[in-house]
Amino acid sequence: MATPLWELVNICKAFPGVRANDGISIRLNAGEIHALLGENGCGKSTLIKILSGVHSPDTGEIRLNGRPITLGSPIDARSKGVATVFQEFSLAPTLTVAENIFLGRYPRRGPLVDWAKMRSEAARVLTSLEIAIDPARLVGSLSVAEQQLVEIAKAISVDATLLILDEPTTALGEHEIAVLHRLLRRMKNRGVAVLYISHRLDEVVELVDTATILKEGRVASTADATRLDIPSIVTAMIGASVEEHYPKVRNATDEVLIAVSNLRSARGARGASFSVRKGEVFGLGGVIGSGRTEIARALFGADPASGDIRIEGRPVRIRNPRDAIAAGLALVPENRKFDGLFFNFHGGPNITSAALGAIRRLFLLDKRGERRITSDFIQDLEISPAAAHKCVNLLSGGNQQKIVIARWLFAGSRVLILDEPTQGIDIGAKIAVYRLVNELTARGCAVILISSDHSELIAMSDRIGIVRNGAVVETLPASQVTHAHLVQASASADGAATAA
Ligand SMILES: Nc1ncnc2c1ncn2[C@@H]1O[C@H](COP(=O)(O)OP(=O)(O)OP(=O)(O)O)[C@@H](O)[C@H]1O
Ligand SMILES: [Mg+2]
Repeated sequence: MATPLWELVNICKAFPGVRANDGISIRLNAGEIHALLGENGCGKSTLIKILSGVHSPDTGEIRLNGRPITLGSPIDARSKGVATVFQEFSLAPTLTVAENIFLGRYPRRGPLVDWAKMRSEAARVLTSLEIAIDPARLVGSLSVAEQQLVEIAKAISVDATLLILDEPTTALGEHEIAVLHRLLRRMKNRGVAVLYISHRLDEVVELVDTATILKEGRVASTADATRLDIPSIVTAMIGASVEEHYPKVRNATDEVLIAVSNLRSARGARGASFSVRKGEVFGLGGVIGSGRTEIARALFGADPASGDIRIEGRPVRIRNPRDAIAAGLALVPENRKFDGLFFNFHGGPNITSAALGAIRRLFLLDKRGERRITSDFIQDLEISPAAAHKCVNLLSGGNQQKIVIARWLFAGSRVLILDEPTQGIDIGAKIAVYRLVNELTARGCAVILISSDHSELIAMSDRIGIVRNGAVVETLPASQVTHAHLVQASASADGAATAA
């Protein structure tokens, strides 16, 4: 076998109580896109942090062109040709897009920073990614999707022989993903080795040349043995085949639970009208920037909004999230890492926080009540039992998502708005979330589902409203909606944030 460009040999890395990487060997060839796959917590990010100089391995070797090499720090790794897009964003919000892209290596002219060159170089990198963002904008003012694109721009602006992307597409829509794929193919043709992590398997099989699947810190299936189709990958990942990717149960009734008309907010809801029935999943489809999240926030009172909202025919006034919760609404936000969970607490307080009144005894929290409620939810929603005592940041993404949903059920919510509920979680956890959606609709809840994963949106919704410019422009039974339809209907949006 020819010597690979980069090679990991027998890498081990333990954290207290867990062998995150337990003897992993991978060969990364020039001009090849290599997927690194596996369930939440199987050790993918740990491995790429070792390759990026963030962690040093306990044992094992990294080789470049067959020779052992040490990567002492992220800067050292970068200078040796490794560029990484980390799963957690690493941008500085108070700096501009251009400054972030060139952080730590500002172009100079003599002793001075060459600002003009920095701006023009940044503009060039952004253009190659078909990103319409002004390099002079502050990163803190960008949307999550735009920040993700800037992260990618930052990584590809370095001359790298190894480009690593750890879930670069969780916040991106289909259009941005297609642009990224084109770019990665160009890098590959230039002889770069690309290591790619994603939980969106349809995207992976379309893009990559080869794959390594990890399970509990070890290689479960090697590149050569992995057939690049979704069923084989899933079998290697979870050790069992999956009968049904989308276990949709239809529970929709004819009774309207919530009717929204002419919902408007300064932030981007522009006259949205729709209604959702008891037991129904109403999908909101549209490109990034079409206004789906803004509609959700306006409905939940998270942004000041106007419009007519009726629950079971009765008008309700929602001025803030407290009003929304009292009216039976819940919002599971797009990025649970930013505003969904209290990461340093275990599952209990996370579940009961939205309705503390229910477990308050006189002025004290009823700890025993909290424990009982937590264990009931753990059972009902099939949450990992560890949630009762482990901090949520140590739980898998799927379990975190279930805890957020459990919280709202506990608060008595009947209308649940789920904004990208399966973003970044593994296939097993996704199916668990789908089952949970079935459970919600079986209880008569109305679910408003926002998802950029078109297959998921079509499969799990009963009806889909197509969103353009902050309004629902068309509503169809999900069975009549196709991928092409979703792309076309919303891509004609003049308000799309990243139109090329
Ligand atoms: N800094 C750390 N300290 C302690 N434990 C850690 C640390 N980083 C990771 N772990 C643990 O190591 C294991 C592997 O985590 P890792 O982040 O590599 O998983 P992953 O495959 O990237 O998961 P995901 O798909 O959810 O991103 C997990 O059990 C995690 O809790
Ligand atoms: Mg990870």
